[in-house]
Formats: sequence, C-alpha cells, structure tokens
Amino acid sequence: MKKQFFLLLTSASLCLFACNNQDKTKETAAMTFQLTEQPFGTINNDTVTQYTLTNPNGMQVRILNYGGTVTNILVPDKNKTMGDVVLGFDSLAGYLQAGNPYFGCLVGRYGNRIAKGKFSIDGQTYQLTLNNNGNTLHGGVQGLNKVIWKATKQAGDSSLLLTYTSKDGDQGFPGNLSVEVVYTLTADNALQISYAATTDKATPVNLTNHCYFNLSGGKENTILNHEVMIQADQYTAVDTLLIPTGQLPSVKGTPFDFTVAKAIGKEMSAVKGGYDHNWVLNRKGNGLEKIATAYDAGSGRLMEVFTTEPGLQFYTGNFLDGTLQGTKGNTIYPQHAAFCMETQHFPDGPNQPSFPNTILKPGEKYSSVTRYQFSVK
Ligand code: BGC
Repeated sequence: MKKQFFLLLTSASLCLFACNNQDKTKETAAMTFQLTEQPFGTINNDTVTQYTLTNPNGMQVRILNYGGTVTNILVPDKNKTMGDVVLGFDSLAGYLQAGNPYFGCLVGRYGNRIAKGKFSIDGQTYQLTLNNNGNTLHGGVQGLNKVIWKATKQAGDSSLLLTYTSKDGDQGFPGNLSVEVVYTLTADNALQISYAATTDKATPVNLTNHCYFNLSGGKENTILNHEVMIQADQYTAVDTLLIPTGQLPSVKGTPFDFTVAKAIGKEMSAVKGGYDHNWVLNRKGNGLEKIATAYDAGSGRLMEVFTTEPGLQFYTGNFLDGTLQGTKGNTIYPQHAAFCMETQHFPDGPNQPSFPNTILKPGEKYSSVTRYQFSVK
C-alpha cells in the first residue's frame, strides 16, 4: 500500500515535471534511459567492453562483457548524493588477477560448492575441475565469470543481454549449455537480472551474481553496522569446508536468525569467520518475492532483494583481507568490507536428494529472476 502510494506520488510528480518543462528539450532528453559503451581493455585479441546503463533518475549500472561483471552501481543516498555501492577494480587487470574474489561477476554453471566436484546423473559419474579445497566452487577453474560473453543492447536502452554457450565437457559438465542473462535497470532504481538456460544433455545449473555490496558507498569500511533481514526460518548446515551436511537447522535462537532486521555484526562473532551460508527462504510460491533487505542508516540506502530462487547465500566478505591490488581508488578492502546476497539453489544440490532439484534436462528451460531494489529511508 505504502509502495503504491509512493509510485502514485512519483508518477504524479514526474507528470508535473514533464508538464512544466515541455519547452526545455535538453532536460527532458536527459530524462530517458541511456546505454553507452566504452573499451575496458583486451584479453588476447578480444576487446572487453564496459556498458553503462543510466536511468532517468541518474542511477547507473556498469557491466563488462568479461564475466558479465557488474563493476559499478551508482545510487543516491538520502541527500541525493550518488555513491558506488559495489566493490571492484579500476581496470581490467584487477578483474583478471588470480585473487579476484568474484567481484560483481556472473557465476555458473553451478554457483557455490559441489562436493569433490563429483555427481552422477542417470548412472554416469562426472568429475569437474576442482578449485576449492578439493571441491568445486562457482563452476570450476574457468567458470562463466572468466569468459567473454556476447553483449547485445536491447531496445529502450534499459537492458543488456549477455549470451554464452558453454560446450559439452566444459569444466567437466555434461551438455552444451546455452545461457542468456538480461541485466535491466528499471525506472524505479532496481537492477533486475533474468537468467535463462537450455541444454542438450541433463546437467546441473545454478546461476547467480556475485556483487559485493557496501551501501555506504565508501563511507564505512565494513558492513558490520548494516542492518539485514532475511526471510528464512532455516539454513543449510555445512562442514568445515562449507559443504552442506544435508541438515536444515532452524535459525531460531541462533546468530542465523535474521527474520527481524538486525546489524550484521550483532551476533556474528559466534559464527567462525563470519556468515557464509545458504538460507532456506520462506517462500509463498514460485514468483518474484521479497526475501531480504539490507539497510545502511548513515547513508539511508536501503536494498531490497526479490527472487524466484529457493536459497540465498549471505556471505560477509570473510576472505577479504585488505591485500587486493588495483581496487577502485586503491581503497583497502578489509575483512567484511562488503556482503554478498547470492540468490541460488542450495549448495551441492546434485549430491543432496532432499534439496530442490538442480538438474536441467533437454527440452526444459532454466529460468530465474532476481531484483536488487534501491531506495532511501
Ligand atoms: C562463497 C565463499 C567464497 C566466495 C568467493 C561465496 O559465494 O560462499 O565461500 O569465498 O563466494 O569469493
């Protein structure tokens, strides 16, 4: 109701603005969506391009065709001052360095971990490339975060389509997998990401995005004071290597309870290293539902997360340690400099029969939508 009122008010004021400014063509021209591009370096002979989506409010999202990486999200604070709310690097070299902790990128074919990089489908066992303590993380050694996607600007200048075909056997995964991701910047300051995929052999798929958010836009060097709410009564318990045990404990009375918004740092010391877990979302159906929020009181920025997915990896930048080189403006990113809210199916889904299905079959279409909605309060 509140939102409808807000929308009504916004459209009313937009109309007023437009009506009063009919002769000022320059201003009205700036009130449209824009999608521009600029070179961002090369990998071998391939050009890496940075695309900039701008909405009529001046919100901007910048995306690379390399890894489908979101490099910048510029949104206003409560004083209407723009700030960049994601961590990243100043140049392509930063993103290419071995220690890049998946800043802003698309993650696939399988976001999060697959135990020992092994799974079986119809009696056949597949072995993936291993890149995380003998397990496979985020699709393996050369995941979708490390390839150049084909980028196509969409009509209306508010969306960018990225496509990539991962070949049969890529990182050990069966089937040729065609992936389509659409990044859309909306008029009401949301970044919406739509994922789709098809395959010619049964194969696990779990696509997500790995933005590291710090809503203070550089004012706070950690996110421990951000207040987070996660709509989940359970989470997936993990072993010491962050592989799910199959158990889904209740969050009640534990530091994992974010059903009522609280500061990230409030009870985090009781969780070794910080949060790096999958929350089992309370869902009403299969549609796009609001499942999490994050709020930074200093800037007033609020981020609401909507998704069609059953899980959320809430990761508090535990492995950041202040040593990354080439960061934006040479900012030091200490431990907990940012948090990730990776919408997903559960980790190790292919090996956990009780978890939601992650196997895509020929003739089926994988689809998933996540929306990061920004506002102030
Ligand atoms: C994982 C972390 C991992 C990080 C990579 C997260 O999705 O859950 O364990 O370190 O990605 O930067």
